[in-house]
Amino acid sequence: MAQASPAPNPSAAGAHQGVIHQLRNVSFSYDDGGVLAVDNLSLNFVGGESVAIVGPSGCGKSTLLALLAGFANPTAGEIVHTPAPAGRHPMTMVFQNETLLPWLNVVDNIKLFFRYNKGAESKSTIEARVRDLIALAGLGGFERFYPHQLSGGMRKRVAFLTSVAPLPRTLLLDEPFSSLDEPTRVGLHEDVLKIVRQYNMTMVLVTHDIAEAVTLADRVVILTKRPAQIADERVISVSKEEPVLEMRRDPVFLEVYADLWDSLARQIEPAGVRAPSPEVAK
Ligand SMILES: Nc1ncnc2c1ncn2[C@@H]1O[C@H](COP(=O)(O)OP(=O)(O)O)[C@@H](O)[C@H]1O
Ligand SMILES: [Mg+2]
Repeated sequence: MAQASPAPNPSAAGAHQGVIHQLRNVSFSYDDGGVLAVDNLSLNFVGGESVAIVGPSGCGKSTLLALLAGFANPTAGEIVHTPAPAGRHPMTMVFQNETLLPWLNVVDNIKLFFRYNKGAESKSTIEARVRDLIALAGLGGFERFYPHQLSGGMRKRVAFLTSVAPLPRTLLLDEPFSSLDEPTRVGLHEDVLKIVRQYNMTMVLVTHDIAEAVTLADRVVILTKRPAQIADERVISVSKEEPVLEMRRDPVFLEVYADLWDSLARQIEPAGVRAPSPEVAK
């Protein structure tokens, strides 16, 4: 069952539940202050939770993820990370664009991280994990295939596994499935839920797809139009044990979907975009 309730003060709640990443009054501007992308934003991420970040196009979602990843530094405020536990890579990212190396097969793409981090783990541990991941993502039999021999959904699966293989504590995803057709995307959602749970990862997902946010996240943060600030936040309790299609047929899922859409639509004014009927979420 899906349930949504306003999160009255999730940042304070998180403080008692193992906050691992903390954005404190973070601002960021491009072009020497010409384009303010993020404005005085504070947000906590608790270990083990999955958070979806949605917001209008161009509002600063990718910028926020880049700041969290350390690809850019805040122009004001600070970002604090607790140290990752031994044996866990602090963070990896799944990008929207194609990131597989065309001259490497499936297995070698998934193991790419370890080529550049020799000795990070024993060869047998890596081999065993890659085998498990391939099985979990239903890619058995395609180990020696090259990217051009795979479907779009399979390539996305492999790209996802390349980011999971280093065993990150936190997995960042920037609209990773937006190019896929709906049935393929739902299949990917099943894999993400399985793998994130199995390897106990924290997930921060940027998406424009509200159904994807409700399916994958425990909490959805809605951003304002640029410069990004937090407009709204919802805690979502969905049984991630159910198959995704079952979850999406749940009337409460559809209610949550419409509620989040209304909230997002308020940020996409002045056109006054109306939430589509909940049936769209099916
Ligand atoms: N490298 C850059 N240089 C200048 N402006 C940028 C750059 N990257 C993004 N921006 C601007 O910052 C704003 C936020 O961008 P972005 O974080 O990519 O938005 P989103 O991911 O929400 O679509 C946009 O107005 C965008 O044009
Ligand atoms: Mg973006």
